[in-house]
Amino acid sequence: MKNEKTALVKFLRAITLYTAYKRLRNHYKKLKLIWITYGTNDVFVSYLTNIRQNKKIEYKYKEERKQFLFKTQVLKLSNDWFTVNIPYWLSVIDEYKLKNKEVKALEIGSWEGLSSHFILSSLPKAHLTCVDTWEGADEHKDGTFATKDVLSQIEKSFDENLTPFKDRLSKYKGTSFSFFQANPTRCVFDFIYVDGSHHGDDVMIDAVKCFEMLKVGGIMIFDDYFWQHYKKSVDNPATAINLFLKLKKDSYKIIRMYYQVIIVKLKDRY
Ligand SMILES: C[S@@+](CC[C@H](N)C(=O)[O-])C[C@H]1O[C@@H](n2cnc3c(N)ncnc32)[C@H](O)[C@@H]1O
Repeated sequence: MKNEKTALVKFLRAITLYTAYKRLRNHYKKLKLIWITYGTNDVFVSYLTNIRQNKKIEYKYKEERKQFLFKTQVLKLSNDWFTVNIPYWLSVIDEYKLKNKEVKALEIGSWEGLSSHFILSSLPKAHLTCVDTWEGADEHKDGTFATKDVLSQIEKSFDENLTPFKDRLSKYKGTSFSFFQANPTRCVFDFIYVDGSHHGDDVMIDAVKCFEMLKVGGIMIFDDYFWQHYKKSVDNPATAINLFLKLKKDSYKIIRMYYQVIIVKLKDRY
């Protein structure tokens, strides 16, 4: 009996050590990625200081995430790249008291409308502008994350999924670049989600132009900070996001940092 107990204790200790090792290795990999993609000091600090807070956020909003998943079972979806973000987004919505505000929101990259659905259902007074080519990005066109069949249906699915919100939705079909050219406005949006093309060149343009369109006090979210798809690390989102943050030093504050980076705008250029 005593021998069995000792073996069990040893086994549990080994599992704990292995889990801790895996966690540490994961954090080390992420910190290394921040380093090689020219991460700013505040990105390092936010990454490290948010580790514990992130666990609490995920726990606090896990029921809301489940409810959203349940509610959206009826939608036409081929993928869920979004719902993992729900706890973080809800924590920001609560902290910045956005729920009952007349939020003007912009989304670059809507796909089948899952994130758009979340924005419009969690912010009942929001108006959302969705910008997408509805042709897919590099990683969909090259077959990594979508089949041709799925690609041919994404716009139709978006339209059907967003039907209940059509009065609070504007749709712009085209590249984000063409949207910025057609809408040369400053400081008009309260909430912007950047999730279009993930190639560094496009992320850079989206970041600069969206920041220009964001009101002071507005929230901007970058998706896929740690995503590594392109062979050259400079072509992945992190390098562009880091260089953008360097460029806008003192004009923003990082408020959440996990797989996404969420900032609040503190100052405009003028
Ligand atoms: C990852 S998906 C968006 C996912 C969506 N936000 C969600 O969470 O469900 C990226 C989208 O960006 C679109 N896209 C790619 N390049 C674009 C560009 N240059 N301008 C606008 N949209 C683009 C693609 O068609 C695709 O629908």
